[in-house]
Amino acid sequence: MKLGIDAIRSTVKELLNQLDKAVVGYEVEKRVIVASLLANGHVLLEGVPGIAKTTLVKALARALGLSEKSVVEINGVPYKGFTRIQFTPDLMPADITGSLVFNMATREFETRFGPVFSYILLADEINRAVPRTQSALLQAMQEREVTIGGRTYPLEVRSRGKFFFVLATQNPVEQEGTYPLPEAQLDRFMVRVFMGYPRSIDEERRICELHMYRLTEPVEDIEKVIEPQWVIEAQEYIARNVKVDSTTLNYIVSLVRATRPEVFESIAKYFELGVSPRAAIALTRLSKALAAMRGSEAVSIEDVDQITFHVLNHRVIPNLETVMERGGGFKARVAVISEGLELAKKVARGGKA
Ligand SMILES: Nc1ncnc2c1ncn2[C@@H]1O[C@H](COP(=O)(O)OP(=O)(O)OP(=O)(O)O)[C@@H](O)[C@H]1O
Ligand SMILES: [Mg+2]
Repeated sequence: MKLGIDAIRSTVKELLNQLDKAVVGYEVEKRVIVASLLANGHVLLEGVPGIAKTTLVKALARALGLSEKSVVEINGVPYKGFTRIQFTPDLMPADITGSLVFNMATREFETRFGPVFSYILLADEINRAVPRTQSALLQAMQEREVTIGGRTYPLEVRSRGKFFFVLATQNPVEQEGTYPLPEAQLDRFMVRVFMGYPRSIDEERRICELHMYRLTEPVEDIEKVIEPQWVIEAQEYIARNVKVDSTTLNYIVSLVRATRPEVFESIAKYFELGVSPRAAIALTRLSKALAAMRGSEAVSIEDVDQITFHVLNHRVIPNLETVMERGGGFKARVAVISEGLELAKKVARGGKA
């Protein structure tokens, strides 16, 4: 079937149905993650342990037919389907990207390709690695290529259906022995998605029920919905065909400008620092993906509103005083960011700032 907007909508629906087989709830989060994939952006997942972050990423990989065992070789480079790296303080940059190793038998150097050579890369507990190692991943995410022993290799080969999608996880509650990601580099992630506890007793029950009569993980029941090549085609289709009209574009840029104290004074109560044009680009791309997912080739202001928090929350620096007034800590930070963004939306609707 030729790829069109209806095909994108129905395939994404089927993809989301597969994810539901292994992960109960998180409907919004699932949509935002799939939208990021379609917008070719990486995801930072924040949440406490045991709430199915890893399961969700594995489920997505499986629905794309990608696993830790599958390897596709393109131009001599082996790309794994799915890789999970547990970040630890002793993890070195070369453990991410790869290195040259000396082969005693042939007496020659060989390239050992690191885990970054994957379609889907799960970087678990990214804040446990030292900054140098974090930087190696963030740089690879940004540049979509890495250099090993003086040779540069691509992480994305669009002509061959090879995409590169990173999901990093971290526990939002500050812990000992962690290295918080530098604020200035957080915007390498298109979105930061918070995963909270299940929302209701019904969800808690459904999670238990899913596991009640089996010993294996439900994620094993997930069926392949699409080929990786489909992802590339859908990305291209959305980029070329989904339109942002002038009113919506005005909304996006007004919203972005309203986060900046230099432009809109009253926002200073919430934000010490607003967002850059990179945020506006991310908002545009992601809302286009969201429009496509609901089967439309025109972005609406509602599409933008739905993902504003996810795209902007890690790009603003909240006003510390206001955070302290709200009791300090993680929850207060999120509350201040969320209120500030609501105000920015309101201003953008009025067309000022
Ligand atoms: N919403 C949910 N739906 C289905 N299963 C769930 C859900 N929440 C937790 N589980 C189950 O709980 C277990 C823990 O999930 P998982 O390992 O994915 O968590 P995690 O968030 O990655 O935790 P950690 O931070 O410790 O790695 C799995 O068996 C998973 O299937
Ligand atoms: Mg996990």
